[in-house]
Amino acid sequence: MAKVLDKALDWLQDRTGLVQPFLHMMLHPVPGKSTWAYVFGTAIMSSFIVQLLTGVALSTMYVPSGGEAWESVKWITEKVPFGAWLRAMHYFGASSMILFVGAHAIRTYLFGSFKFPRELNWISGVFLLFLTVAIGFTGQILRWDQTAVWTVAVGAEQALRAPFIGKTLVRVFLSGDNVNASSLSHFFALHVFIFPAILIGLIAFHVWLVLHHGISEPPTPGKPVNPETYRDEYKELLKKEGEPFWPNAAWRDALFSTIVVLGICACALHFGPPAIENPPDPSLINAEPKPDWYLTWYFALLALVPAPIEDWFILLFPVILVVGMLLPPFISNTGERSARRRPWAVAIVVVIVGSIGALWQEGINEYWTPKFEAKPVPEQIVGTASGPIFDGAKVFNDRGCLYCHMISGHGGKRGPDLTDVGERLTHDQLTIRIVNGGVNMPAYAGNITPKELADVTKFLESRKPHAPLLKSYNAGSK
Ligand code: HEC
Repeated sequence: MAKVLDKALDWLQDRTGLVQPFLHMMLHPVPGKSTWAYVFGTAIMSSFIVQLLTGVALSTMYVPSGGEAWESVKWITEKVPFGAWLRAMHYFGASSMILFVGAHAIRTYLFGSFKFPRELNWISGVFLLFLTVAIGFTGQILRWDQTAVWTVAVGAEQALRAPFIGKTLVRVFLSGDNVNASSLSHFFALHVFIFPAILIGLIAFHVWLVLHHGISEPPTPGKPVNPETYRDEYKELLKKEGEPFWPNAAWRDALFSTIVVLGICACALHFGPPAIENPPDPSLINAEPKPDWYLTWYFALLALVPAPIEDWFILLFPVILVVGMLLPPFISNTGERSARRRPWAVAIVVVIVGSIGALWQEGINEYWTPKFEAKPVPEQIVGTASGPIFDGAKVFNDRGCLYCHMISGHGGKRGPDLTDVGERLTHDQLTIRIVNGGVNMPAYAGNITPKELADVTKFLESRKPHAPLLKSYNAGSK
């Protein structure tokens, strides 16, 4: 039996020349003390394989046309055997890829693995990171439901405002000045052909570099990288304590990847695919753009940026992000690798992860989007069933004030809570604010009749929840 196998392998090697390189790859020596920290790269690869398999399966059923895309996703989810599971696998596979790309980037940064001679590993990795997110984003849009279309619309609106290149950028991505039926074909082509093709090429390059330089040995404090001697030291290290990748180190990768793929399966079975919401309807403005979880923080950030710098921020932030991530090997590709001797590196990671976490929280709470499904302020809170205050409350509900303002727990959080605004602002201040609007508040001048303005101002003036308390306090102190 073994003989037959040997013969077959010999034949394959003779005719293809591929057996030796494969064995060489699997058995190449790696530093002996490699640890669990090194398993993220293969976790990304396994998740990517899940994406390829489920993605190809989905593409056989998806109809990339503006009119039918939503229907086809619905059909896949509800009618196709295992269709919902396929979509869920594809979604959690994407989530897993992005999660581990992040973890892998943090690990290689903290281990100083981007230093000599592995600068290009880092640089190709940065492009892989952005490409992965771009594939996730274009994929989310293929659902072509109300949320997806609005996410594109909001993205396009943001991009349009970028100085100089905004218009061109939007034209290229949407094939028009607006979201239209052929925009979807663009996102489809990007998601299934263009981005994955570049991704696979870059992965090949990245993995080639990993094999070419060998994986970085776990850093030792006080043992800096010196380009003159590093390669000899590395060779020396491999000679002394090197082990073949398979099976000495690969078992950890194999085990972790298995857990990851099982985890993707478990999440897919438990949570199911992301909901497809209503079909896109351009006449509805009350949809919230809601990107998938890995971009929520970015949308929150865009919503929180102060208006005066917004346009420049939209243009510059992505550039700063890419340049910032490319910088490490240019700034310090020699010296200490251990995080214990690089306090600044640790601080940078903590600040970035902390900021993204905080923004993410903010994005989840969605303080920054008007709440279009807010229920009208009920009568017992209005406090009266007729007269100007009652009419004012109606204006407040009907004119959309409550999408952004909360009164006694009813309404949205985009603007300040107005529960006790009658105690804070005078009649004139209220009128001026409503007429002129403010930062992120529309000006209602010309959009509201004098009577409506008078009524809604009266209503807001009556928002004095502490008045009875004050009255009794004053009465008591007399
Ligand atoms: C799109 C969201 C949005 C809508 C709709 C909206 N507002 Fe505002 N409003 C805001 C924001 C944001 C602020 C804070 C503006 C600032 O500080 O410049 C604000 C501020 C105010 C203030 C000042 C509050 C304070 O504590 O200083 C008042 C009063 C107010 N709005 C009333 C109204 C009324 C009345 C309506 C409806 C006719 C309305 N708003 C509609 C977002 C909105």
